[in-house]
Amino acid sequence: MTSIRLAPSILSADFARLGAEVRAIETAGADLVHFDVMDNHYVPNLTIGPLVCEAIRPHVKIPIDVHLMVEPVDALIPLFAKAGANIITFHPEASRHVDRTLQLIRDHGCKAGLVLNPATPLQWLDHVWGKLDIVLLMSVNPGFGGQKFIPATLDKLRALRQLIDAHQASGGQPIWLEVDGGVKVDNIADIVRAGADTLVAGSAVFGAPDNDGGYKTVMKQLRSNARNV
Ligand code: DX5
Ligand code: ZN
Repeated sequence: MTSIRLAPSILSADFARLGAEVRAIETAGADLVHFDVMDNHYVPNLTIGPLVCEAIRPHVKIPIDVHLMVEPVDALIPLFAKAGANIITFHPEASRHVDRTLQLIRDHGCKAGLVLNPATPLQWLDHVWGKLDIVLLMSVNPGFGGQKFIPATLDKLRALRQLIDAHQASGGQPIWLEVDGGVKVDNIADIVRAGADTLVAGSAVFGAPDNDGGYKTVMKQLRSNARNV
């Protein structure tokens, strides 16, 4: 029996009712709020920043998992830490000094992680294992919700699971393995079987009607399918 963390992405929430939306996912059993930051530079889309993070912070107790799709990265880290972020991840190609950026996140009291796009190799992790609390594998190209899961992610996940297990077996700190993009009720079992322990789901969760407890229903379904691996 595998227990996983579910991180609904508010990218697919109703932005006009964001406070109520994050409260609803917390009530429905979310483990994290996944917060997608896009800058119309690193990715061709524009979303939300530290002010919105600060605005939702009082509405939930669960950690806020900030996924930075921005370039450059460093200036935003203190702002997000101050706005109540708990986890901050970034794409290594978007930072000039990856080790320094990871350290900056940790120095601000947040968990730190790298995000690897579908075509970004695992070798980016080689020299920073000691500074990672989380690795996020993108299973779509970043920039939009509602895309289709790229199946080649499964092999990459298995390879990364082995590396993380080896790191921990040799006395290294725990590292979460998160997957982001196209996670649905019908593929979550395969993704968890390949080694993920933290699952982002945007359209799968917020696409469900919440008026009759739809978020809760879909999250229960995601969790129970993930358990049957
Ligand atoms: C894509 C974002 C994802 C996205 C996931 O760039 O990082 O978090 O919102 O959405 P779904 O689950 O709809 O693929
Ligand atoms: Zn994301």
